[in-house]
Amino acid sequence: MTDHMPDDLSAAGRDLRAYTDELRPKHPVVRNTKGEWVLLRHADVLAAALDHERFSSHVSRYLQVPNGLDGEEHTRYRKVIEKYLTREALEPFIPVFKRVASQLMAELPKGKVLDAVSDIGAVFAVRAQCAWLGWPDELEPQLLAWMQENHAATRSGDNAQMADVAEQFDEIIRSIIRPRRSVGNKAPDDLTTKLCRETVNGQPLTEAELVSILRNWTGGDLGSIALCVGVLIAHIAQHPELAVKMRAASNNEVEAAINEILRLDNPFVSNRRVTTCPLHIGGRDIPSGAKVKLNWTSANRDETVFDNTRFDPQGNAAANLLYGAGKHACPGRLLATWELRIALQTMLTSLQTIELAADQPLEREVAPVGGYHRVPVVLR
Ligand code: HEM
Repeated sequence: MTDHMPDDLSAAGRDLRAYTDELRPKHPVVRNTKGEWVLLRHADVLAAALDHERFSSHVSRYLQVPNGLDGEEHTRYRKVIEKYLTREALEPFIPVFKRVASQLMAELPKGKVLDAVSDIGAVFAVRAQCAWLGWPDELEPQLLAWMQENHAATRSGDNAQMADVAEQFDEIIRSIIRPRRSVGNKAPDDLTTKLCRETVNGQPLTEAELVSILRNWTGGDLGSIALCVGVLIAHIAQHPELAVKMRAASNNEVEAAINEILRLDNPFVSNRRVTTCPLHIGGRDIPSGAKVKLNWTSANRDETVFDNTRFDPQGNAAANLLYGAGKHACPGRLLATWELRIALQTMLTSLQTIELAADQPLEREVAPVGGYHRVPVVLR
């Protein structure tokens, strides 16, 4: 492979996980067609995630709270968000997520081919997140349609299409927060109303800040949860012995197994940074002001850190970058972990078998998205 070839990580039409596996041993840092520098090795991704001085998160011209903020400003906003995502704050929602999962299992047709990503993952993600935020059930079809459009826009890489879809979503969020913010209105007693009443530096959060926070909690995460459910179901269907073990396992053991399955096939592919000084990484000179991508999917399969032929939930937990590292590490980790565990446990206890459809192939996603596009399964 010449040094020039890996400079195209647009990887159009390719499975990004397979492609980065191919590139990583010889080309730890590659440039994509957008001119971004993509870090593929575990050590480099981890170092960049921990080094928020030389890798700024201020990558977009759009307001991104808190992910696009740096330093003290990031800390202030992050504090507001974290209190909704602690163990104590989330515990009351466990029965809610269980109800959502059981109801979905009861509704899903048995003995017929279903897509684990769109028919199970996406629907569970929307219902669980709406229940958590206090959003009305009637939003479900609108949010599901939006997820599909967002997915299509991300895959297309077309900036105008992505901006258009983002604006549609912001409009949905504004329609939810406006009545909760209007003075004198009897707002429902839910998490979204509580968030609308938060202050930073003594000032109420602005509409733009609220939209950004809620966009992050929903727009991005609904897709991630749906893709994660797809990866988990595909793995379980291909490893029935693991399904047997999981039925008898403790919550902690199930969560560890989920994290290991998602380490091996991490559908939350990457996050961006911008360099604040010139850097030398993986043999490449990266200038100041350069856009850098931390590729979690690739880092999580780095053969110098993990033996990918061994399924080792305990042994690989400490180095697993599924939820990132450093100041921007995922504050929604516990929420995501519980939602995924409850979805999987409910499936395992309410079904006898989860099998891949005999006559329809698994379809991988292609760059820039990870995981599966379609996981045809039959539930019994
Ligand atoms: C399986 C699902 C999820 C995965 C794999 C995931 C993964 C990640 C990762 C890797 C980061 C680090 C980003 C960076 O370093 O730039 C992150 C950040 C973040 N995640 Fe998650 N996440 C998931 C679900 C959620 C959920 C459910 C929420 C909340 C409702 C959430 C809220 C956030 C927020 C607010 C940030 C930005 C944090 C900051 O910049 O300080 N995530 N997530």
